[in-house]
Formats: sequence, C-alpha cells, structure tokens
Amino acid sequence: MMKVLVLNGPNLNRLGKREPTIYGNETLEQIMNDLDQQAKLLEVEIAHKQSNHEGELIDWIHQADDRYDGIILNAGAFTHYSYAIRDAIASISSPTIEVHLSNIYARESFRHTSVLSEVVIGQISGFGPIGYELAVRGLIHFLRGKNR
Ligand code: DQA
Repeated sequence: MMKVLVLNGPNLNRLGKREPTIYGNETLEQIMNDLDQQAKLLEVEIAHKQSNHEGELIDWIHQADDRYDGIILNAGAFTHYSYAIRDAIASISSPTIEVHLSNIYARESFRHTSVLSEVVIGQISGFGPIGYELAVRGLIHFLRGKNR
C-alpha cells in the first residue's frame, strides 16, 4: 500500500476558527479525517502531522525520505519565504506536492510567490479541503508514471 505523509504548517491548527471566509469552517481534524477516508478508497495510507515550527517541519521532511512514497505539504506562510523548507524538500528523493486551501494568486502580493514551487512536482491552490485529496490523486499518477 502506498504511504503518504501529509504535513500542515503554521496556523493550520486554527482552521475552523481562523478567517473562515478565506479558509472555511472545517477544522484540520475534520479535513484530515475526510482525507483519510478518501485515501483508503484509493488504497493509500495517510499519516498526518501539523506544526507551527519551521525546524520541526524540516525534521519531518527529512524523516519522511525512504519511509513514505510521497509528501503532501501545506507549509502555510513558510511557503512564501522559507528557503530552509525548500532546501529540505530538495534534499530528499520522495516527491512532494504543495497544497493551499486558498488561491494564493488571488490574494495579497506577498502570497503570489512560492519559494517551494521549484522543488515540488506540482501545486494545488484554491480548491479548499478537497485540494489534499486532489494531491493524493496527483501523487498516485506521478508514482505510477515513474514506475511504468
Ligand atoms: C495557505 C496560504 C498561505 O498564504 C497562508 O499563509 C496559510 C495558508 C493556504 O492553505 O491557503 O497559512 O497555505
């Protein structure tokens, strides 16, 4: 069974309470539970973690190499300026997909840049919670293509 690590970065533990007009009313727990269910149907095993700390996310990215077939990462605001997270992704061989609940290109200009985009296999932005599921599907296709 394919194993995928889903990492959520800073402030995503506040989902449900946090700016609901932008991020919706669902909590991270609800979103991850739904993702779990959908992933099972796709025969994918999901593990998920959240941290507000850059270094902790970096450690988890390193540890995921070899242990997981891929990573799905919503790095929150780190997306826009963390070269350290970028380099962590570049340092591992497991493919990473970048997810954003909101459409970062339709918001403040500082959100229009992702320093992660160059080192991920793709980005999903603007589809809300279902973006995580789309990323799982994208990862399956990517890995199948690679193994063909
Ligand atoms: C976000 C977008 C980021 O700009 C923001 O800092 C977040 C969440 C999203 O999921 O839309 O924390 O990654």
